[in-house]
Amino acid sequence: MHYTGSRSALATLALSIAASSLFMPEAYAADPDTAAHRLARMQQDTAARPAVLIEGKKSAFFCANCHGEAGISRYPEVPNLAGQHPAYVLGQMDAFLTGKRKDEFMEGLMKVLSERDKAAIALHYAAAPVVPTTAPGPRAAEGGKLFATLCARCHQPDARGGEAFPRLAGQQREYIRLSLKRYLSQTGGRLYAPMTAAVTQLGANNIDAMADYLSGLE
Ligand code: HEC
Ligand code: HEC
Repeated sequence: MHYTGSRSALATLALSIAASSLFMPEAYAADPDTAAHRLARMQQDTAARPAVLIEGKKSAFFCANCHGEAGISRYPEVPNLAGQHPAYVLGQMDAFLTGKRKDEFMEGLMKVLSERDKAAIALHYAAAPVVPTTAPGPRAAEGGKLFATLCARCHQPDARGGEAFPRLAGQQREYIRLSLKRYLSQTGGRLYAPMTAAVTQLGANNIDAMADYLSGLE
């Protein structure tokens, strides 16, 4: 099914899941412990890790429709979550929840997740291996040079990011393109001034080169 069509079908499904309380929204209401606290505890408790990962995979069954079972997404405009930093993933879930980052479907969906679901899902995807979905594009070498000068200081020289900076290595080429254009034009549902500055320096005509480079990395 095409992405746009599947999205509206899935929106209906998400609502019925919420209604049947499979995601247990009342647990969220009764539990003031935030996902970030849970994540920190789950990360420390290595003995409980295998059980948490199984739980996260189960809780992510609905997400898998778009983001893939192991975090390699099924549509070019949907970001991979494999190998993404759990703190970054949680931060974005909260940004959708508060409406700071705008995407009608994701904003609605985040409301049906409990704090425990969010932490377990973030850990499940973080542990998934990154598999580049494409070979480096035609302008990858050019993109690599630009990355080292303009982006590596935050996203790290290997583009694998860190706590506060998203991993870009192996990300979907089309999603990278869309994201960079959105930061540049400041018209999309996501604003972050340092990224607008970085993409302005990069220049609109080098966005393709950057996407060619990053999507082919591991
Ligand atoms: C219908 C398809 C669809 C489903 C189902 C879906 N997502 Fe998404 N998700 C998207 C799209 C599209 C984006 C990118 C939105 C944008 O461009 O801002 C996204 C973005 C995200 C991001 C931000 C990633 C980044 O790199 O910044 C996170 C985190 C996320 N989704 C988590 C989830 C979780 C957790 C679930 C399941 C509870 C889920 N998504 C279900 C389509 C989906
Ligand atoms: C000052 C630090 C900084 C610099 C320099 C920087 N970034 Fe970012 N980048 C970030 C942060 C932080 C985010 C997440 C911001 C948000 O929540 O919108 C981000 C988000 C992104 C995203 C969206 C990722 C996703 O999963 O949604 C892409 C793509 C990206 N950066 C690419 C680049 C490229 C390419 C460059 C160089 C031209 C660059 N960044 C330079 C800090 C930086």
